[in-house]
Amino acid sequence: MKKKILVTGGCGYIGSHTIVELIQGNFDVVIIDDLSNSNINTIDNIKKITGVQPIFYQCDLKDSNHVKKVLKENKDIEATIHFASYKAVGESVEKPLLYYQNNLISLINILTAQLENGNTNFIFSSSATVYGSPKKLPITEKNETQRPFSPYGNTKKMAEEILEDLSKSHKKTNIISLRYFNPIGAHQSGLIGELPNGIPNNLMPYITQTAVGLRDKLSVYGNDYPTTDGTPIRDYIHVVDLAKAHVKALKRQLEDKQDKNFEIFNLGTGNGYSVLEVIKTFEEVSKKKLNYEIIQRRDGDVPKLYANAKLAELKLGWKAECNLKEMIDSAWKWEQKIRTENKSNAL
Ligand code: WQD
Repeated sequence: MKKKILVTGGCGYIGSHTIVELIQGNFDVVIIDDLSNSNINTIDNIKKITGVQPIFYQCDLKDSNHVKKVLKENKDIEATIHFASYKAVGESVEKPLLYYQNNLISLINILTAQLENGNTNFIFSSSATVYGSPKKLPITEKNETQRPFSPYGNTKKMAEEILEDLSKSHKKTNIISLRYFNPIGAHQSGLIGELPNGIPNNLMPYITQTAVGLRDKLSVYGNDYPTTDGTPIRDYIHVVDLAKAHVKALKRQLEDKQDKNFEIFNLGTGNGYSVLEVIKTFEEVSKKKLNYEIIQRRDGDVPKLYANAKLAELKLGWKAECNLKEMIDSAWKWEQKIRTENKSNAL
């Protein structure tokens, strides 16, 4: 009998890639998504990849009655993977209340509903942003967390504090928080990938949109950081590697009977690359010269963020497999595909 897993935000970038791995890992999937920052066509594309159409509920997790209704209709859900949240760093600085309300109320509602359902397994989509500007590198889960620069990042830190408190009040809960470093790339099918709304905040989609002619040039935010070439260093990780880590975490909760209660894992490759190294690798992969200009720093950026991911390897049996070239190649193929489709749709 297949185990049924609830995925909130399942029509989003990381959610959709995780659902593909869950289905291919012989799980049944129920999606809750409000489609505020994702596209319902993603479900058809998941079906094209896996042959399976997941159950879908369009539901705003801030509506507690609707959430409870969905969960009552799916009492056999054995675990929840919670991706649904607003995630634009800049927007969160302009509209903090929108982010605190959405990201925290959604979390509290899904936790409340699933505990009423007797489901005690919960995996949370967190972020390395909770480490702030780390004093020690590479970053392990023992690194102290600092107040993140943005309200978006702070909702991730506050969410982990809520989860830790819940794990103490409800000893039977199994909660895992996965701290992502920098997810990039797309599924090799070219059917799912990152679909940023409007002007991309993140480096990779901005690079590919510039290369495909959608943007005039990439602004590189500062080259006066204490790094090899002056540009900030990040730990980029393929979104499919990230998705596979969620299946490993889920199996730990469902199959490994020890009571783990509350655990945190870094999901990174352990390798850091600067912005200019990413640009250079993109130019090698795409055989295109990227138009970019170095301008002043972006508020809130930290010089270096890269993981020590040994704990996830030890406890989850997971290790990232894709290298930077493979990640960038998949992102570039995806960008070219969606732009070609858009052009043909526009005809
Ligand atoms: C990477 C590097 C920029 C854009 C954020 C969130 C994190 C996670 C991923 C959400 C930085 C530089 C970027 C550009 C640039 N969350 N850059 N020009 O800031 O490490 O992490 O996104 O999904 O929680 O904090 O990622 O891709 O925005 O930036 O020079 O146009 O690229 O300065 O050094 P970041 P990023």
